Amino acid sequence: MRMWTREELYRPLKEKAEIADLHDYVSKSAYRQAYHVQPVTGLLNDPNGFILHKGVWHLFYQWCPWGAVHGIKYWYHVVSKDLIQWKNAGICIRPDTDMDNYGAYSGSAISAKDAICLFYTGNHRDPDFVRKPKTCLVKLYDDGRTAKLPWPLFDENPAYTENQRDPKIIYVEEKKSYYMLLGAQNAAMRGCVLVYESANLVDGWFFAGSLHVPGFEDFGDMWECPSIERICGRDVLMFCPQHIYLPRRGKAVNHSGYILGEMDWDRLVFTPSGSFHVLDFGFDFYAAECAANFKSADHTYLTAWMGLPDGSYPTDEEGWQGCLTLPRELSVRDRRLIQKPLPGLADLRNKEVRPSEMILPESCEMMVMCSGGDLELRLFTRKDLSGGLVISYQEEFHMITVDRSGMNLRINPEQGEIRQHLIDNELTQLRVFIDRSSVEIFVNEGDAVFTARVFPTEEEGNFYLSPNANARIWTLKSAVVDDFCA
Ligand code: FRU
Repeated sequence: MRMWTREELYRPLKEKAEIADLHDYVSKSAYRQAYHVQPVTGLLNDPNGFILHKGVWHLFYQWCPWGAVHGIKYWYHVVSKDLIQWKNAGICIRPDTDMDNYGAYSGSAISAKDAICLFYTGNHRDPDFVRKPKTCLVKLYDDGRTAKLPWPLFDENPAYTENQRDPKIIYVEEKKSYYMLLGAQNAAMRGCVLVYESANLVDGWFFAGSLHVPGFEDFGDMWECPSIERICGRDVLMFCPQHIYLPRRGKAVNHSGYILGEMDWDRLVFTPSGSFHVLDFGFDFYAAECAANFKSADHTYLTAWMGLPDGSYPTDEEGWQGCLTLPRELSVRDRRLIQKPLPGLADLRNKEVRPSEMILPESCEMMVMCSGGDLELRLFTRKDLSGGLVISYQEEFHMITVDRSGMNLRINPEQGEIRQHLIDNELTQLRVFIDRSSVEIFVNEGDAVFTARVFPTEEEGNFYLSPNANARIWTLKSAVVDDFCA
């Protein structure tokens, strides 16, 4: 891999022409997605500022234009009317002031009268390269103009390490107050959440305290992207604990998950009613974000970065990396979240193809109905049905296994190439969304989801399904406009 100097990594993008050649090259990649949000060039990581504002869905992502590296970060903007069809809308937040001189890091949004208020972390570094994170505000007006508040809402908190970022804005009705959650690391190098409060979005912010989560005082050394959501009348604390091993997660140390419980905004205590669950049992899933939903708890939608903080992928060589997951609709059943694909995805179905031919279309949906017994679905096999990504079900333990070690192009093998999960009930259905370089497997209508990037080579275009199951397959239409908008 190419080595990047600090100057190259943090060079601001002055004009679109500077990445025109890279865009030309990237857009020819065989791995460009047909219905997932992906970067015009360079690297995409966290989704940010996900919100419905005046009938339009706005979503932003962390973007480094120069290549598949974590250098300077912009907020790139995409819009949708239905969460299915997405259009590029260009850069929204530029790291163009001293307070965000090394990047406009992750954050969230709230809808105001004539604008969306975007809160983000200014990744400020002083002349000695010491990081001093600032919490900043940009207003995106309905006419497309943006205005950045020229000073931070608040500076770094000296009682915590330099790792404090990813403001999540929440309005708490019963307190008639705004709260901002920040992912952080305390002086004992443990992950935690900082809570700020204000009656007003633009000023008056003060540090209210560190969120107490009994039983989770020692759970990884940093918590990124925290949020508290209200889903089906339950409180859900979502965050990404880092540098911790979890059962059946191989050597992965970064996780995106949640705890169900009860939030007490007076005492700043989140009382868990169960354990930490990962949101996704697959490989490439991080920094999940729910669309702002404090006004209506009817629907909660979630999307995430289909990638990992320390992952590398075959497209790195082509100058791009990362995409977002399909938005999913969340609900709570018993002690867990259920995640369903959106009903509108059915509109992307194009042609139904005959499974008996065992040819896997490039972008398709596969619906597998299971009638009992063990099962094996091998995707992206060679013509002789060898290799590929293997999804298997062992009835005796209700165990689903996803193994991608058989693919020609191996991805982050050091983190483990097999993921396993025990489902509560018998397997009845697998709904698999396949794009040119990803697979999202919804088990039993959202009981569990496995997400994986895959990079099939030309010879990996077939599939095999055990005879005790039936499949229907539809090719899917494109739903993202892959144009050069910056
Ligand atoms: C999570 C993260 C955030 C940070 C952003 C920078 O992937 O590290 O904590 O704000 O990415 O791009």
